Amino acid sequence: MQDLGADGIAAVLRLSDRFVEVAQRAIPKVPALRGRTVATLFSETSTRTRLSFETAARRLSADVVSFSPTGSSIAKGESLRDTVETVAAMGVDCFVVRHACAGVPAQVAGWTGASVVNAGDGWHEHPTQALLDCATIRQVLAERDGRRAEDTGTEAFAGLRVTIVGDVAHSRVARSDVHALAALGASVTLVAPGSLLPPSLAGWPVAAATSDLDAVLPDTDVCYLLRLQTERGAGAFVPSLREYTAGFGLTARRADRLPEHAVILHPGPMVRGVEIAAEVADLPRTAVLRQVANGVAVRMAVLFLLLGAEEVPADA
Ligand code: NCD
Repeated sequence: MQDLGADGIAAVLRLSDRFVEVAQRAIPKVPALRGRTVATLFSETSTRTRLSFETAARRLSADVVSFSPTGSSIAKGESLRDTVETVAAMGVDCFVVRHACAGVPAQVAGWTGASVVNAGDGWHEHPTQALLDCATIRQVLAERDGRRAEDTGTEAFAGLRVTIVGDVAHSRVARSDVHALAALGASVTLVAPGSLLPPSLAGWPVAAATSDLDAVLPDTDVCYLLRLQTERGAGAFVPSLREYTAGFGLTARRADRLPEHAVILHPGPMVRGVEIAAEVADLPRTAVLRQVANGVAVRMAVLFLLLGAEEVPADA
């Protein structure tokens, strides 16, 4: 996210508007990447991100191949590098990589001439999640003004008060979102128990960090909830789930403290009853499924920018 900057983010959002329109067609498919092959390499569990990338690639008419360590020769002892080079030799144009270790997508990029997209690496980054979050926020802000997202830029992010709540320390989503939102001029506040904040906030462009969620909610325009990353050991950093929810869960009572216009986001998967109450997850202002829908368009934009022609074809 840091490389992309405000102009890069705005360019992805502008292009993704075109693909939001494609999704609304009777046949939501364009020939832009016909003949290209996209490989998804996911060594961590995933529902939305993997299906979203695969849907995006197919809607651009690319061929898609998928592999995961358990179902591939990695389980027979082959190194990740040999596996990547093997798949690349079959003629892959783009690898979409998710891995439990930070830095693996960057490593893969060094082993192949194909494009590589980071679909989440350890605690490090999840850039397309941040892009789809920005697309969703932009859409909500435009609608609030009675405008269409495609008629707006990213001006409305200036001064926008975004509160990110939960397991910030282990969250690649938080890292990418903080950089994207700060680049666009938003003011980000982190809310977490001290044990789930990064040991140092050096390099985190945030306005504040606190453990008092109730105090921050009335001054929040976007409330972004994070799941406790139990697979990364987060459970050891809270006394109990019940206590975590008591202090940091967005209960119905807490959601009432938000201004009327505030929107609630979550990258998914949500754990109802822990970071978000079931009734809050189903509120009209909770835009989780909109995030998922925008994810496909944003990933189409990313794949198109990496693999497509210089110009967006007229039929795209
Ligand atoms: C996130 C992830 O895997 O980083 N999910 C997603 O991609 N939408 C967040 C999470 O698992 O908590």
